[in-house]
Amino acid sequence: MKIIIADYLYIDGKFVENLAIAFDSRIQAVDLPEKLLETYPEATLVRAKPYTVLYPGFINTHVHLEFSANITSLKYGSFMPWLDSVIEHRDDLLQECDNTMMQKECDQMLRSGITTFGAISSFGTELEVCEQAAQRVVFFNELIGSNAQYADMLYNDFLERVKASQGCEPDSRIIPAVAVHSPYSVHPVILQRAVTLAKQHKMPLSAHFLESAAEREWLEKGSGEFKAFFKKFFNTSTPVTTIEEFLNAFDTYPTHFVHCVQANDKELAHIKEKGHTIAHCPRSNRYLGVGRLAVEKLHALDIPYTIATDGLSSNDSLSIFDEFRATLMLHHKAPLQEFALKLIKSVTSDAAEALQLECGSLKVGNYADFALVTLPELPRRTEEIALWTILHTREVDSVYIEGEMYV
Ligand code: BEZ
Ligand code: FE2
Repeated sequence: MKIIIADYLYIDGKFVENLAIAFDSRIQAVDLPEKLLETYPEATLVRAKPYTVLYPGFINTHVHLEFSANITSLKYGSFMPWLDSVIEHRDDLLQECDNTMMQKECDQMLRSGITTFGAISSFGTELEVCEQAAQRVVFFNELIGSNAQYADMLYNDFLERVKASQGCEPDSRIIPAVAVHSPYSVHPVILQRAVTLAKQHKMPLSAHFLESAAEREWLEKGSGEFKAFFKKFFNTSTPVTTIEEFLNAFDTYPTHFVHCVQANDKELAHIKEKGHTIAHCPRSNRYLGVGRLAVEKLHALDIPYTIATDGLSSNDSLSIFDEFRATLMLHHKAPLQEFALKLIKSVTSDAAEALQLECGSLKVGNYADFALVTLPELPRRTEEIALWTILHTREVDSVYIEGEMYV
């Protein structure tokens, strides 16, 4: 048993003083330090540095490790030229991306306090790295393929990857999961099979959804920039599904929809009604020129969302703090203190609920996953701690996963 004492504990969206946590691999008690010392006299005592805030470990719900080799290969600024550049450079980027490179990115996430991440896997090539990573990994096996002719083959390949992720050792902390690529790239027949599979095995389920205006135009009218793309690469001329049909396919199982920048009010209301959640990737959206997710609408509808980094295919780092700072700038009209608090909540309790995880809040029974942030001076006003955490942290002071210290 260990007992950790920090100046502040982040509990239920507040920064509480004079509390400590007793833990082994899970949190056993949250109470006054003297009470815990009395109950667990044999426990090892960890006293965090002055001005340290103890947060639950952060959760990055959406990242693509396989594309970690991208620095200048992919074209930023607008969605379709970017997607063209992905097709053009995909093989080279995948080849250049070895385990060492992906491991380095997992380490960067760890130093920014990320103790769980959702890895979208197109080919399964990062499974080994994810098994060896310190973090808990929700391993999202991705299904892609709009052409009915190849659908069975692609679905079987996807099933093999799902099985491989289900066969990992428990100490690898791999959680098998399902990702549907997008409405434009997945045939409705295999989409339905994937949703049913996720539901049967109670696996977390995710899908990119309405990322760009081009996607919306293609799905609604069969026209726009996607028309030339599908003609060129797939020799097809009509979309395989509609926005409504795609969204309805998820009605019976809560899903983590990624982006939703171009979702309209009706679609957002539907997302809320069915208990779905959203992953918001602000830097990715900005770099691919897809527009700004109207977070104020998500706030008004009370739709839970997470802040996520996406992959280095559309970002410059996998640090959650870099992402937070960009988020504050992108949504410049959001009330600053309130929004900073909301961002912390988005990567802790909201992210844990979205991915069905037993972590994300400092409560008894949860995994003892912690990110300790040391502020540069004594915080003058407790209500501003979330903002100062975001503005002043490049790397966290230490990280615990299931009670073991990794940073
Ligand atoms: C497809 O299979 O339709 C597809 C694959 C990758 C990107 C876009 C579409
Ligand atoms: Fe993505």
